[in-house]
Amino acid sequence: MKKNSTLERETIQVKTKKPLKELYKDVKKPVIRTLLGSLLYVAGTLIIATQADSLAQISIGNFTDILPILVYALMCVIGYIFFYISVIADLGFVDLAARIRKKVWNKTMHLPLRYFDKEGPNQVISRVTSDPEYSYQPYKLLQLTFTLVAFLLIVLVGDAAIPALALILIIGFIVTMVLMFVFAKYSERGATYTASKLAALTAFLAERFNRIKFIKAMNSEEKETENGNAFIGERYEAAKYNAMALTMVQFGQTFITFILFTAAFLFGALMIKNGSVKSTLALIAFYAYGNNLILVFQFFAQFPSVFAMTRGGSKKLVAIFEEKEENLDEGRPELAETGDISLENVSFGYTDQNAVRNINMMIPKGKVTAIIGPNGSGKTTVLRLIDRLYPDYNGSIRIGAEESSEISLRAWRDRFGIVSQNAALFEGSIRDNICYGVKEPTEEELQAVIGLAGLSDVIESHEGGLDFNVGVNGEKLSGGEQQRVAIARAMLKNPDYLVLDEATANLDPLTEQKIKNSISALMKGKTSVIVAHSYRTVEGADQIIVMNNGIVEDCGTPEELMERNGYFRSFAAACAE
Ligand SMILES: Nc1ncnc2c1ncn2[C@@H]1O[C@H](COP(=O)(O)OP(=O)(O)OP(=O)(O)O)[C@@H](O)[C@H]1O
Ligand SMILES: [Mg+2]
Repeated sequence: MKKNSTLERETIQVKTKKPLKELYKDVKKPVIRTLLGSLLYVAGTLIIATQADSLAQISIGNFTDILPILVYALMCVIGYIFFYISVIADLGFVDLAARIRKKVWNKTMHLPLRYFDKEGPNQVISRVTSDPEYSYQPYKLLQLTFTLVAFLLIVLVGDAAIPALALILIIGFIVTMVLMFVFAKYSERGATYTASKLAALTAFLAERFNRIKFIKAMNSEEKETENGNAFIGERYEAAKYNAMALTMVQFGQTFITFILFTAAFLFGALMIKNGSVKSTLALIAFYAYGNNLILVFQFFAQFPSVFAMTRGGSKKLVAIFEEKEENLDEGRPELAETGDISLENVSFGYTDQNAVRNINMMIPKGKVTAIIGPNGSGKTTVLRLIDRLYPDYNGSIRIGAEESSEISLRAWRDRFGIVSQNAALFEGSIRDNICYGVKEPTEEELQAVIGLAGLSDVIESHEGGLDFNVGVNGEKLSGGEQQRVAIARAMLKNPDYLVLDEATANLDPLTEQKIKNSISALMKGKTSVIVAHSYRTVEGADQIIVMNNGIVEDCGTPEELMERNGYFRSFAAACAE
């Protein structure tokens, strides 16, 4: 098959040291259902096969006796009922896929942010949606193996068996298997290629549908249609490769089956001619068995290619298990103190390049610290480090005298409340969004934060009140309303430390003023770090930190900075305009 450069790139990219069995570790396998399903299948076939003599009579047009025909029909019905019940094996397979999905979902939820940065969050969708579809194929083969063994026994010990002919089939089967091993590498490549292109398409679609309003506003429908067509085209190329590989496997099988049957027929004719088989009926009966047997051979011969396909399609899935999970509970389970937050010589990069370097800062307990600086200067990054969203920085971050690395991530993050520019709402009711991540509050607690966050009007004006569904990403609420829900959420959590990232950016002045009041209520008595782009937000701060190009450029009170820091003065002047 023609080499495909994209394919080569994909297969090289996805390298995993872990074996396929990693996927099945600690997952309950449907072995009993598989076994039972295949026994039922064999039983069904056996019931029909017991009627081989009747079938042979019917085949030669002997309709004189109606009873054998009726018995044959009845046995067929019973046999097919057994086939149908053998669906329990298939239910086992889908159950296995669901279990693997849950395992992968659980794993991804616990992976560090770096994994998502590396893969792209939309790519990860496919790890949970389409990739696990490959996972049950080996169990399907297990079922076929059982079935095959059962059939072999039947053919070899059964009355109608003619060992010499059965031998032809078995030899043919072995040849098929060898050939299929040769073809397997194409199946593996095809599956890797298809899975990765499907993931790319899914990632593309997730991003575009999330930005559909912007696309329309930019009149970019045609451009995006073109972009999407390119992804669909690549997926098509992958599917084409896969189809060719699959057809090659199927063609090989059918061809071998044809040769086998021709050989068996010729051999049978020879046996009749030289008198070693006395009746044509015995031969017809054998062919009836043989036909079933061949079917199972055909399935079983897929073993190498299906296995290779599973390996290929599951590469990225297995690679997930090489990733180290964030251990949320490693370290002391409690942060004893509430004190100043201090960063000492902290450096961190999302890539090889540092986004922040040698950061030293002290965020005093119970005070408001504002961080300002140009876009990309590292303000959000510092907040993420303080919250330990990226725990692998260099340097030291402490609360009081307690070193962050000694405290469990769970305990540390539990002490922080976050409000960012993007309110991070989920599809669901306003109530669910306010209560996200906190234990079930009492009705009084809930009403108190609703009042403080200025949410009462919002709740009243939406149908269903607290039960109003905010839509995907909270889009059925306005930006300011979303912010207020996020503020109420942070209030309900009642954290010791507050981290606010441009929580009031892009709001109209009246809403901004209202939200600022809510924020002041939220910050009362807490240690707060607030990244701000507006002078009005920072002028009331106890301390201002100026960041520039990944470093701390200055730190002082608004008055001190007004005197000595050029950036702060221009910042204040620009905001006043
Ligand atoms: N997930 C990420 N992966 C790679 N680089 C990132 C990531 N997030 C931020 N960066 C880079 O880190 C640097 C600092 O970004 P950061 O978001 O901290 O800036 P900022 O000061 O908050 O800017 P802004 O005022 O625009 O919000 C930027 O150069 C940015 O490109
Ligand atoms: Mg930022």
